[in-house]
Amino acid sequence: MNRPERKTYFLKTFGCQMNVYDSERMAETLARDGYSETSDVDGADLVILNTCHIREKAAEKVYSELGRIRDVKNERAKDGKNTVIAVAGCVAQAEGPEITARQPAVDLVIGPQSYHRLPELITRTTVDRKHIVETEFPGDEKFARMKAPRRISSPSAFLTIQEGCDKFCTFCVVPYTRGSEYSRSVAKIEAEAHELARAGAKELVLLGQNVNAYHGEGADGRTASLADLIRTLAAIEGVERIRYMTSHPRDMSDDLIAAHADVPQLMPFLHLPVQSGSDRILAKMNRKHTAAEYVDLIARIRKARPDIALSSDFIVGFPGETEQDAEDTIALIEAVGFAQAFSFKYSARPGTPAAGHGDQLDEAVKSERLLRLQAVLDAQQVSFNAQSLGGVVPVLFERKGREAGEFVGRTPYLQLVHAAGEGDLIGKTANVAVNETRRSSLSGVISAA
Ligand code: SAH
Ligand code: SF4
Ligand code: F3S
Repeated sequence: MNRPERKTYFLKTFGCQMNVYDSERMAETLARDGYSETSDVDGADLVILNTCHIREKAAEKVYSELGRIRDVKNERAKDGKNTVIAVAGCVAQAEGPEITARQPAVDLVIGPQSYHRLPELITRTTVDRKHIVETEFPGDEKFARMKAPRRISSPSAFLTIQEGCDKFCTFCVVPYTRGSEYSRSVAKIEAEAHELARAGAKELVLLGQNVNAYHGEGADGRTASLADLIRTLAAIEGVERIRYMTSHPRDMSDDLIAAHADVPQLMPFLHLPVQSGSDRILAKMNRKHTAAEYVDLIARIRKARPDIALSSDFIVGFPGETEQDAEDTIALIEAVGFAQAFSFKYSARPGTPAAGHGDQLDEAVKSERLLRLQAVLDAQQVSFNAQSLGGVVPVLFERKGREAGEFVGRTPYLQLVHAAGEGDLIGKTANVAVNETRRSSLSGVISAA
């Protein structure tokens, strides 16, 4: 007897780690529903784009992608095959019905808070044969209603503990696309962490748009902080490393700083976006801290954990940014010293307060300032990595490298390391003697433990 053919899906993820996590959860739900994944879009019965709205370029990419997928859909229709096209993520949330108006080949628009309804809504598109737009904030937790077992794609597993943001930085769409801050309970996170550890996860990366604002319900009914949660998760058998991102300087509490001093599983790395080093711009951004407060905070964190590696996000060319403001940002970078960082040209986003400011800068000015800033950051990253040369670093291997016998992993400071090894090193931690350093990675040889 012929078994019915399994339906296939093609899933492409844009944007931040929170989207990567959501995509993993959607994939698990689809697998339970009998779908198998394909990397070949032409062969897919279901195509999902999990999208990002943070900058204009990210959002526009979705439409060019959708144009190509519409062509695939039309080709497949000639062979009598149906293709369901779904747009998920932050563009879905922000633009809703504009998406199907602009690209009618799209069947389903689904916001980030409705993923537990994905299978049901896909079925409805094939029955009703009309566009479905689902962008409600239902108020109950989607993850609790996604019952498919957790799988891991890497020994370093993402775990979303908090969603949304109440900060309303004037440049940012996240409070609109992800809604207000919500923390999952410690019990639910702990159960998921156990499941991930049993599946082979060695590192947990706790995720949230504002992760250090975490305030979930604790086991004793009281509110738990991120530091409390980290201490709970550190006790789980098999969890060797814990990281968290992304944090806001305002929520870097003393107990979290203390956890960096005394929880050995908590890695000495912190991504703490500052965005600008100019107080004038920080105020216009509604960041609620000054450059000096940020520098002082870093000093307190370094006192607790002297070797901590720091990372940040920067926006250059915010409306009204002067040459002096740009220089102030470079001065802050020089005062702090970053191991790595992300930097972006300001992109005006519809509906955000800063987009309405009259003093938008020219692209050319933004580009020039970005290059100048990145030159300073790149030099810091080169010199941070160079400090590892000749030393031995513990590396948790996450995947195979491109060369035969090569594995790729990370140091506690999140540096990427390439090393050749015998057998299967994935999920194992080994000491690597570093013999070459570049801006964005290290290489070395595995030394006896
Ligand atoms: N919650 C995090 C950031 C999430 S968005 C925080 O508070 O820092 C990730 C990064 O994208 C931001 O840190 C910022 O540097 C950048 N970003 C956000 N909106 C932007 C915009 N309109 N233009 C350019 N970069 C932006
Ligand atoms: Fe956006 Fe982060 Fe500001 Fe929230 S805190 S509005 S996510 S930049
Ligand atoms: Fe992008 Fe949404 Fe993440 S806008 S950065 S995918 S929260």
